[in-house]
Amino acid sequence: MIKKTIIIAAVTSSVAVTALAHGGATGIVKERMDAMAVMGNSVKAVAPMMRREVDYDAEAVKSAAQVFARHSGEAMTKLFPEGSGGGASEVTPEVWSEWSKFEELAEQLGAYSNGLALAADNGLGTSMGSAGSMMGSSSTDSMMGGTTTPMIDFTSMTADIAFNMVAQTCASCHATFREKE
Ligand code: HEC
Repeated sequence: MIKKTIIIAAVTSSVAVTALAHGGATGIVKERMDAMAVMGNSVKAVAPMMRREVDYDAEAVKSAAQVFARHSGEAMTKLFPEGSGGGASEVTPEVWSEWSKFEELAEQLGAYSNGLALAADNGLGTSMGSAGSMMGSSSTDSMMGGTTTPMIDFTSMTADIAFNMVAQTCASCHATFREKE
């Protein structure tokens, strides 16, 4: 009787572990899924602020931006060695056949995340859309030197616009490089 109980407990707990490990992924596949999941949690933490469902918190937005930045660029691409698809992984073969596009999106995530950190203090814009928000009165030319991307001035952008740019980068990478469920 006691033996049977122990076996059932062992089976039950191994099921729970598998569920946590993203469908049985191991090694580098699990590592990148974990990194992605951490970013997913940060998106969930700040998205309600961007939608004005909860109070805006610049510090929370900055720490989310740091999470995205930390997992972007090479930190992300090095978790996708050639041939690491299949099994529990949801990658598409395009990751390796269109590697430079993949790499570019990983880099773009880093640039936009650093931009989001800069924009965080500007708070939320009006609902006028990107043009209106970018022309907002929060623009401070003296801070221009702080921009990380030469093309885009994040210091005069509202946080919701910058956040959308980050989220768009997640989405556009997933559109090509992650299997649809
Ligand atoms: C450069 C491409 C790229 C970018 C940018 C990117 N992802 Fe991913 N993401 C992937 C790929 C590819 C997978 C599938 C990985 C696998 O299954 O091996 C994935 C998987 C995921 C998963 C599922 C993880 C799991 O447990 O299976 C989540 C959640 C996720 N990404 C969130 C995000 C968020 C949030 C962002 C932006 C902040 C982001 N990703 C940016 C490529 C990207």
